[in-house]
Amino acid sequence: MVARRARVAGWGKYVPANVVTNRDLSETLDTSDEWIRSRTGIAERRVAGSDEATASMATIAGRNALAVANVAAEDVDCVLVATCTPDYSMPATANLVQAGLGATRAGACDINAACSGFVYALALGDSCIRAGLFRTVLVIGAETFSRIVDWNDRATCVLFGDGAGALVLRATDEDYGLLATTVGSDGSRADLLLVPGGGSRMPASASTIEDRLHMVRMDGREVFRFAVGVLPRITEQVIAAAGWTLDDVDLFVAHQANVRIIQSAARSLGLPDEKVYVNVHRYGNTSAASIPIALCEAYEEGRLHDGSAVVLAGFGSGLSWAASALRWGPTPGRVGLIAPPGNAFQD
Ligand code: ACO
Repeated sequence: MVARRARVAGWGKYVPANVVTNRDLSETLDTSDEWIRSRTGIAERRVAGSDEATASMATIAGRNALAVANVAAEDVDCVLVATCTPDYSMPATANLVQAGLGATRAGACDINAACSGFVYALALGDSCIRAGLFRTVLVIGAETFSRIVDWNDRATCVLFGDGAGALVLRATDEDYGLLATTVGSDGSRADLLLVPGGGSRMPASASTIEDRLHMVRMDGREVFRFAVGVLPRITEQVIAAAGWTLDDVDLFVAHQANVRIIQSAARSLGLPDEKVYVNVHRYGNTSAASIPIALCEAYEEGRLHDGSAVVLAGFGSGLSWAASALRWGPTPGRVGLIAPPGNAFQD
């Protein structure tokens, strides 16, 4: 018998119905399908409808994950939402999700580590389960980047998309779940990717709005350089911490920001294509939502099985980074409860 840890008991996702293709963007911006695909691998992204926001997408993803796990909302001890595009500065988006799910016994809070946030939230949920504080934690990554990108800035707006993904973590004594995590930060480079206005440093005013300071600013080249360096490093670290070798890894699920970043990391690590998951072409960069959405789709595509050795690796604004080694499963036995692909339980 192994010590108590947190296994993945359920998974779910939600992406908005509205698809925006590269060609759509080229109608209003000086860009092209060819430029976006060749630089990023992105073909299209989803954009939230006017009645949608981070909490509503997170709630549907969370509900889908609970259905797969066959866990009632009342049995959830804590809801963690990783997001840097919350509905409000306060309260936390997680409070809205907790209420929306009817998770009446659960505590709730948000984690903001930008695109690394989901892996940080998993580590927190895992630690609380290991410590005996909780038995069931719903971990969600959800973002509405379409509300904070400057739709006139072709260098950033083409990259991002909206969506949500969720995992249910449950205590287990079996050899499944999170085996190791590594995290890091370099706040001295915070200016490479940030939203300067609207916080306590530069509160919202007519002039901050006029200067478009409430929107994403990014030094794309520097972020790219950072990402291709950090991804292989944290992957090797977490593999070693789990007692694995690279040959043991069945699937590498990195933050889906740019296919060139993922391919570069896979090349440095010597991972073959069949061990590398990519869906950035469908959704663009959904920040904290990208890894849980990718896990849902990897499962739906038959690329995750009972006992699969999975590495999750996130990086992003902060600068921040985080990676986890995860033994997938056991897959819920009741096939009827597996969420169908797509957006089940839409209201
Ligand atoms: N369409 C056409 N041309 C464009 C576009 C566009 N959408 N965007 C930029 N260009 C132009 C630039 O203006 C520039 O023109 P110039 O040479 O005349 O000045 C030219 O294309 C090259 O620009 P670069 O920035 O050098 O292009 P690069 O090949 O570096 O690709 C990109 C840019 C895709 C943004 C890349 O740097 C990248 O992916 N960086 C990482 C970004 C990222 O992943 N950020 C998210 C991190 S996660 C998080 O926390 C949110």
